[in-house]
Amino acid sequence: MKYFTLTTLIAAALLFTACEEKTTQEKVEEKVTEAVAPKTDSEKAMDALKEAAEHAKKAAASAAVDAQKAASEAVASAKVEAEKMAAEASQKAAELQASATQSIEEAGKELSEKAETVKAAATDAIASISAPAAYAKCKGCHGAEGKQVALGKSAVIAGQDKAVLIASLQAYKAGTKNEAGMGGLMKGQVASLSDADFEAIAEYLSQIK
Ligand code: HEC
Repeated sequence: MKYFTLTTLIAAALLFTACEEKTTQEKVEEKVTEAVAPKTDSEKAMDALKEAAEHAKKAAASAAVDAQKAASEAVASAKVEAEKMAAEASQKAAELQASATQSIEEAGKELSEKAETVKAAATDAIASISAPAAYAKCKGCHGAEGKQVALGKSAVIAGQDKAVLIASLQAYKAGTKNEAGMGGLMKGQVASLSDADFEAIAEYLSQIK
């Protein structure tokens, strides 16, 4: 019994020692594993970093290409827009010029028409204001302003030189002028008129344009 107990104790002690030894070995192995593991992790980390850096590099390069493309597209579209605007502006300018030219032409036409009207009115005014009483009987053949060809035969007497008119009237009165075979008729018209009448008539007729 004593022997058994002793044997058991020795066996237990041996077993214990063995167990302890095993535990220590395991601990060493754990330590070794622990020592190796961080190395593997850091390598993984390094790999991941390298990969990330590679990705970042590629991404940056592609972003740069994209940006350049976008910039050149923007420049091209801006150029197109600018050209369009310039074309529109020049068309507007041409339209404005055309309309301005038209306006000027219309205004000019209107002005010259007005001027014509004013001139005619002024001529009428001069004629009506200064037509002497002695001219009243001449109107039937020569017209109110002396612009008619009397009986289809005479020259137009309006606007003739004053001295020429006086000479003509004096010649008819004297019976020495006969241009179209109607000198006798004119002699009858001016027979009763004085030099003062001739002067007034000639003054009036010479002023008509
Ligand atoms: C019935 C129509 C008639 C009347 C009215 C008349 N004339 Fe004449 N007149 C004539 C004819 C026709 C002649 C052309 C005479 C000729 O053969 O030379 C003429 C010629 C003239 C000429 C010369 C034109 C030229 O350069 O040869 C004058 C100037 C003139 N008349 C002034 C007058 C005056 C002024 C009156 C009014 C006082 C008047 N006549 C009235 C018909 C008329």
